[in-house]
Amino acid sequence: MKVVVTFPIPDVAKQMISEHAALQCWESEESIPVSTLIDWVADADAILTTLTCPIGREVLAHAPQLKVISTVSVGVDHIDVGVAAERDVIVGHTPGVLTNSTADLTLALMLAVGRRIAEGDALIRSGAWSDGWKPNLLLGTDLSGATVGLIGLGPIGRAVATRLKGFGCRVIASNRTMRSLEGVEFVDRETLLSTADIVSLHTALTPQTLGMIGQKELALMKDGAMLINTARGALVDEAALVAEIKSGRLRAGLDVYTEEPLPLTSELRELPGCVLLPHVGSATERTRRAMFELALANLFAGLQGYDLPARLGTT
Ligand code: DGY
Repeated sequence: MKVVVTFPIPDVAKQMISEHAALQCWESEESIPVSTLIDWVADADAILTTLTCPIGREVLAHAPQLKVISTVSVGVDHIDVGVAAERDVIVGHTPGVLTNSTADLTLALMLAVGRRIAEGDALIRSGAWSDGWKPNLLLGTDLSGATVGLIGLGPIGRAVATRLKGFGCRVIASNRTMRSLEGVEFVDRETLLSTADIVSLHTALTPQTLGMIGQKELALMKDGAMLINTARGALVDEAALVAEIKSGRLRAGLDVYTEEPLPLTSELRELPGCVLLPHVGSATERTRRAMFELALANLFAGLQGYDLPARLGTT
C-alpha cells in the first residue's frame, strides 16, 4: 500500500504512516505541482492533504487504486467530492475539533473591527499617539447589545451564537434547513442582511453558496454594518465588498479570501475599515494537533477498510 502526503509533516507522523504503508511525502513549503501529484497518485491507495492542495477530476482520474482522501481541514471545497464519490473514493475531514477555535476567532474579529484594535496598535507603533487620552480617539461600536446575523447554523455558527449570548447580543440566523436553537431567531436572508449590525458567515463553500454575498446582498446591509468571514473567501464577491468598505459604508473582519495568500495588489490591504487575518481560524496548538490526529485516524481507518471516524457525508 502507498500513501501520498501533499505537504510537509512531522517525522513522528511519517513514522506512523510508514508502519502501515510506503510513504511519498512532499517536503517543500511551496505547493506540490499538479503534474507531480498526478505522477505520484498513479499507484497510491490514500492521500493525506490540506486545503491548499486542490484534488480535482484530473488528479482522481490518474489514481486508479485510490481508496481514501484524508484532509486536515473541515472544509472540502478543494476536493472534487462528486468525482471522488463516482470513483468510490471515501473522503475524511476534521469536523468538530476546530469549532471552538474558529468561533473564538470570529468573536475576536467582531471585537477587533468594532473596537478598532488594529488601528490602535498601529497608532502606537507608528509613534503617532503623542497626546494621551482624548475624548474622540478611535471611537468604535459595541459588540454588547448588537444584533448579529449568522448565515449558517452548523456547529461553528452555533458556537458563535453561544458566545454572543454572553455579550447580550440579539442573535438572528438564516440556514438552509431550519434548526431551533434557544435564543436564536430564524429569519429569511434579506431580513437578516437588512437588520443585523454584524453579519457573520458560517457556511461551507459549495457551487450553491459560491458568491452568495454579492453586490445586491451587501447593498441590503445597514450603513456602518460589519461583515465577518471566517468560512471561505469565495462566499463573498470581494470586489463588491472592497467598494462598500472604500465608500465607508461597511466594515469587515476577514480571515479568508477568494485567493490565498491575499494578492499584494488586493485593495483590501489599503483599507482601514477592515481587519485582515491570514486564514488562522483553527490555528491554535491544541486544535491543529486534534485536526492532525483525526486526519491520521481517518487515513488509517480508510487504508484498513474500516469506517472513518469522520467520513464526509456522515458527520
Ligand atoms: C478548515 O479546516 O476548513 C479551515 O478553514 C482551516 O482550518
